[in-house]
Amino acid sequence: MAKVKTKYVCQQCGYETAGYMGKCPECGSWSSFVEETVTKEVPINNLPADNTPPPILIKDVQIGKEIRLSTNISEFDRVLGGGLVQGSLVLLAGDPGIGKSTLLLQTGGELSKSGKKILYVSAEESAGQVKLRSDRLGVNTDKLYIYPQTNFELIKKYISEQKPDLVIVDSIQAIYSSNIQSTAGSVSQIRECCNELMHVAKSENITMIVIGHVTKEGNIAGPKVLEHMVDTVIQFEGDKYKSYRILRAVKNRFGNTSEVGVFEMGSNGLKEIINPSEMCLKEYNQSQSTGSVIIVTNEGTRPMLVELQALVGTTPYPSPRRVTNGVDISRVLQILAVLEKRVGLNLSKQDVYVNVIGGMDIQEPAADLGIALAVATCARDVVIDSHTAIVGEVGLSGEIRAVNNIEKRIKEVEKLGFKKIIIPESNELNEKFDDIKIIKVKKIIDAISACITTDAVKE
Ligand code: TYD
Ligand code: MG
Repeated sequence: MAKVKTKYVCQQCGYETAGYMGKCPECGSWSSFVEETVTKEVPINNLPADNTPPPILIKDVQIGKEIRLSTNISEFDRVLGGGLVQGSLVLLAGDPGIGKSTLLLQTGGELSKSGKKILYVSAEESAGQVKLRSDRLGVNTDKLYIYPQTNFELIKKYISEQKPDLVIVDSIQAIYSSNIQSTAGSVSQIRECCNELMHVAKSENITMIVIGHVTKEGNIAGPKVLEHMVDTVIQFEGDKYKSYRILRAVKNRFGNTSEVGVFEMGSNGLKEIINPSEMCLKEYNQSQSTGSVIIVTNEGTRPMLVELQALVGTTPYPSPRRVTNGVDISRVLQILAVLEKRVGLNLSKQDVYVNVIGGMDIQEPAADLGIALAVATCARDVVIDSHTAIVGEVGLSGEIRAVNNIEKRIKEVEKLGFKKIIIPESNELNEKFDDIKIIKVKKIIDAISACITTDAVKE
């Protein structure tokens, strides 16, 4: 009888040990080790069949043309870098209930409409449930096959037999391989199944999209290991209680990672938002209150106008609260420190709340000046001139630093009918803009005075 060997695997990072440990030495998480049985033992000297070519010089490598499969959903294609690359494996990650299954069912329907054969492996829902949803979404199912299955070996068999153009696996946490003893969703299972799927994708040149849930700690499908294995990682984010959803490429072997796609979830599924700035400004009030500003962020190659609000008020607590939604809290703390030191704004007894409207998550520092002005004007109770957009990075000495793609940002602001934009002085402009007044600022204090004077704007 074969000797049964066991190992302990950290469910957070995949670290392996021979004995149980309370705290993982690799990632520091507690009580994350689970005992798993090792059944496969590969002899060390066993080389794989010798049908692979030996190493060659890079200049001698022959490359075939990269074949891309358009999803017919332009926002999805944009994030993928122009469509799905044949034979690649894409991981679509997101919180449960965000709309991953809906997006992929709609994608499957679009591709089925264009004559491609799709295999939708549903490991979480029954065929009936998927059919109900596909009826409601009105997707084309001429060549869309549904396979409710959780066993990886059976899934692999049908993929090899049917050779579909696209395989959708919903989700990687729900499938299991018979080679591994642990339960579906454990690190070893996820790693094994993903590895095998990757192998099938490459060896049979089949394109795959795999769904992975984000755990409550915010990791994709538990361990980070999955992200390293796949070709592309796409994150589906947004507020579950609002209808806007944002697709973002976190890793892409075949394209740019900074692109985003914007969707709206409605009763008939996901609808693309071709002009996201208009969506973000839908509720923007021209006679706005204090602490509300319009900033221009750059998402990939596309500039977007977003409304940002700040609320500053005397705190009832011993230490003031700082709460942010949609922007990084440490960035806000840094900006508050600059405002205190360089502008003389005393915020030590004030609560500060910063909120981005529309469920967007803004990461780029070009939003700094907008945050600073929203906080400063709210603290001083002055209203920012409406029709003004703001862009710039704030340095620690109160200087405004240059941002990238400034001309594209100005064009977007101009297109949406704004009269004035505040930009960093160090940004050089090669184009002329006639319909918008451009105000260049060097210091944060100049920006404050520029945004509250109305004389420059002729309405
Ligand atoms: P789903 O795609 O099942 O999410 P995930 O696969 O990421 O867990 O979608 C979940 C939510 O989307 C669900 O709460 C209902 C909502 N929804 C709509 O609002 N409209 C629709 O047409 C569909 C299909 C779902
Ligand atoms: Mg789902």
